[in-house]
Amino acid sequence: MATHKLALYVWLSFISISHLISTLAKPDTYIVYMDLSAMPKAFLAQHHWYSATLQSVSTTVRADTNPPSNVFSSSKLLYSYNHVINGFSASLTSAELEVLKTSPGYISSIRDLPVKPDTTHSSQFLGLQSKSGLWPLSKYGQDVIIGVVDTGVWPESESFNDRAMTEIPSKWKGECETGTQFNSSLCNKKLIGARFFNRGLIAKNPNATISMNSTRDIDGHGTHTSSTAAGSVVEGVSYFDYAAGTASGMAPQARVAMYKALWKEGAFTSDIIAAIDQAIIDGVDVLSMSLGLDGVPLYEDPLAIATFAAIEKNIFVSTSAGNQGPFFGTLHNGIPWVLTVAAGTMDREFGSILTLGSGVQVKGSSLYPGNVSLSQVPVVFMDDCLNLTELKKVGRKIVVCQDKNESISDQVYNIQTAKVAACVFISDIDNSESFLQSSLPAIFMNSKNADVILNYIKSNSGPKASMEFRKTDLGGKPAPTATSYSSRGPSPSCPFVLKPDIMAPGDLVLAAWPSKTAVTQVNSELLFSNFNLISGTSMSCPHAAGIAALLKGVHREWSPAAIRSAIMTSADSADNTNAPIKDSGKHNEPATPLAMGAGHINPNKALEPGLIYDATLEDYVSLLCALNFTMKQIQTITRSSSTNCSVSSLDINYPSFIAFFNGNDSKSEPKSTVQEFKRTVTNVGEGTSTYVATVTAMKGFKVSVTPDKLIFKGKYEKQSYKLVIEGPKLMEEEVAFGHLTWTETGGQHVVKSPIVVTRLSTDNTEELS
Ligand SMILES: *[C@@H]1O[C@H](CO)[C@@H](O)[C@H](O)[C@H]1NC(C)=O
Ligand SMILES: *[C@@H]1O[C@H](CO)[C@@H](O)[C@H](O)[C@H]1NC(C)=O
Ligand SMILES: *[C@@H]1O[C@H](CO)[C@@H](O)[C@H](O)[C@H]1NC(C)=O
Ligand SMILES: *[C@@H]1O[C@H](CO)[C@@H](O)[C@H](O)[C@H]1NC(C)=O
Ligand SMILES: *[C@@H]1O[C@H](CO)[C@@H](O)[C@H](O)[C@H]1NC(C)=O
Ligand SMILES: *[C@@H]1O[C@H](CO)[C@@H](O)[C@H](O)[C@H]1NC(C)=O
Ligand SMILES: *[C@@H]1O[C@H](CO)[C@@H](O)[C@H](O)[C@H]1NC(C)=O
Ligand SMILES: *[C@@H]1O[C@H](CO)[C@@H](O)[C@H](O)[C@H]1NC(C)=O
Ligand SMILES: *[C@@H]1O[C@H](CO)[C@@H](O)[C@H](O)[C@H]1NC(C)=O
Repeated sequence: MATHKLALYVWLSFISISHLISTLAKPDTYIVYMDLSAMPKAFLAQHHWYSATLQSVSTTVRADTNPPSNVFSSSKLLYSYNHVINGFSASLTSAELEVLKTSPGYISSIRDLPVKPDTTHSSQFLGLQSKSGLWPLSKYGQDVIIGVVDTGVWPESESFNDRAMTEIPSKWKGECETGTQFNSSLCNKKLIGARFFNRGLIAKNPNATISMNSTRDIDGHGTHTSSTAAGSVVEGVSYFDYAAGTASGMAPQARVAMYKALWKEGAFTSDIIAAIDQAIIDGVDVLSMSLGLDGVPLYEDPLAIATFAAIEKNIFVSTSAGNQGPFFGTLHNGIPWVLTVAAGTMDREFGSILTLGSGVQVKGSSLYPGNVSLSQVPVVFMDDCLNLTELKKVGRKIVVCQDKNESISDQVYNIQTAKVAACVFISDIDNSESFLQSSLPAIFMNSKNADVILNYIKSNSGPKASMEFRKTDLGGKPAPTATSYSSRGPSPSCPFVLKPDIMAPGDLVLAAWPSKTAVTQVNSELLFSNFNLISGTSMSCPHAAGIAALLKGVHREWSPAAIRSAIMTSADSADNTNAPIKDSGKHNEPATPLAMGAGHINPNKALEPGLIYDATLEDYVSLLCALNFTMKQIQTITRSSSTNCSVSSLDINYPSFIAFFNGNDSKSEPKSTVQEFKRTVTNVGEGTSTYVATVTAMKGFKVSVTPDKLIFKGKYEKQSYKLVIEGPKLMEEEVAFGHLTWTETGGQHVVKSPIVVTRLSTDNTEELS
């Protein structure tokens, strides 16, 4: 005890008391990185060291103020982090922060940042079935625990029933925390953990009233994402009779642990880091995070930093690419050690039928949930529906609007305001999806149907039409397509790793919803449903997390990089018409890997990938070194003061390739016209096998692979090869792409990697087009 006090005294005296800072500043929250090797031995736990540091900081600041006053808030420790970072978060005035910077062990700090979430049939669409393949082999993900950082969970949802579940894995250390309308009896063998984190939020908004101070979800986002990843099988579900069928998470036997860190009142990184920290301690196997931060470098991105610790513990991390598409360079979570997931469509169409007085029927899309009866109603064409005065004169008629190549949001607003009977929107712009759930009885269709409707209206004196809703069609073609909103690479924070990695279903996904949170409204009447259809990379991320859980259930020994490799190299690049997957954000041209990564996720093919591209923590460090980060920045991520840059390379062993060339308008020094990549593949197939390389032709580029044949004598044997891209000095097109495919001779395995060549900038301060 005596030595403890002595050490504490000696240590405190290090802190300079010469700082005379009298700025009166509002406290802000900071995440503070500390060098653990500087912690005096007397402290038994990091927590005590951090508290003592903060206490002495407050004391110093108060002593320096003349006259002494208590206008400074006393420093407040919000969280001390154990695994994801060496450090803590605290509420500090700028004066306190300045003193803290002189404390022993202080490395760096970043201001707490706000974060936003990236806001049935999908298992069938992905080919998951009970007879063979990944579902039965993985026992549907039994014994795999998926941690979800989100807005909480609605535990009463049927998707979290545990009737078919086995006992909770004994390694589980998590808890079901008590809070407002929540206690441990709401957890079960499906929902095995529920925790909530809002100290960071409250520090930022001390007066905020937390409307649901527990893991209970009143937003819906977290209930939706967690049931998408691992919801139980529920029969007879629908969204107002649309998408009716059986709902199932990707890994219906896996467990869910919810870490609520996104609140109606706001969301901050300090809470998210605390959530990831706790998930690691609790023992999750997979983390699903449908959220991200834009425009931060890797060493300041709390998700990048916290997930590095998760990867060290062999936890697979799935994240969302963001919903800022279709422009290049909009992606977030371009973190080399996680899976970054883009959003695609499914082959499901939510239809409605317009029957013209002539008897001709035209199909369109709608998710109108109401019960309006529209039989033989007068129909009128109102051009682009931008004249509200005119529209208000229409009255109870069906209005047909045709947009002139611009967003239809103004038209939708006008129609809503004008109080017409119903509307038909004709538009070729892929923006109708966000209006599908509009409270209007409206049908959205593309212009190929325009003539038949407009001709009928023009050539009849009293044109009439009928509308019918609630028609769902499966087998729609082409599917999947890349959605317009899905954020595109290259990753601003690490352009040298091709991102996104993969595309998964994200468009109009049906999953569980809190029964007391309205899904939509009709005539200002709120409507409720236990299942909701929503869209975004938030929805595609948990699909990939669930599939990773299934793969982990089969291949316990695989690293997160190996699982990611299996998912990527087995992805589909063709749609259900056997043509290249299209990009609805780029006029339905073939989707580039900057939109969909390696392609559309194919879980059964990922089960036996043949070869994998593995990566170690050292490989990631070597990449960080080559990004020219300072040692301090790198150690913020690795949390190890022994990290060094003895090896440094931008060329990580990744299952994809991206090369940067100069554009023909380039004013900068020409980059090399030859770019070289080295890769090592591990045979995870049985016995001997031979693989032969083929590369798709890329206009203007020569791509060669040496050797172009790899012979493996046994399982886990490694072989290396070199891929060289030779291009023109100045590149004309913005993006060119192709694939390298290793095909097993006389075998089943096909190992495919996307190749992107681009003249987009690698400098994230320059605007990307
Ligand atoms: C938990 O909450 C439920 C429902 O509100 C209640 O029935 C139950 O008694 C509570 N259990 C405990 C242990 O407090
Ligand atoms: C919070 O409430 C207190 C007391 O009502 C008030 O003095 C203060 O200005 C409020 N702070 C903010 C940030 O609104
Ligand atoms: C929320 O609940 C926690 C734990 O039950 C409690 O410590 C905290 O004071 C509550 N916060 C608010 C704002 O009610
Ligand atoms: C539509 O009708 C069904 C069946 O009668 C009813 O359950 C539902 O509440 C109605 N919906 C609305 C929005 O009125
Ligand atoms: C809208 O229509 C009215 C006639 O109803 C016309 O007077 C007015 O100029 C129109 N507005 C625009 C912006 O075209
Ligand atoms: C709409 O815009 C696209 C691309 O900008 C163009 O290809 C198309 O011809 C335009 N259509 C009309 C009707 O102007
Ligand atoms: C890192 O610095 C070296 C030496 O200045 C330079 O050649 C290289 O291009 C830089 N790398 C990156 C990714 O900026
Ligand atoms: C640098 O780090 C590597 C990997 O951790 C280690 O093997 C090596 O000994 C270190 N080198 C130096 C000079 O510290
Ligand atoms: C660059 O290439 C584009 C596309 O081929 C062409 O339209 C443009 O004129 C070229 N610019 C220069 C400066 O050569």
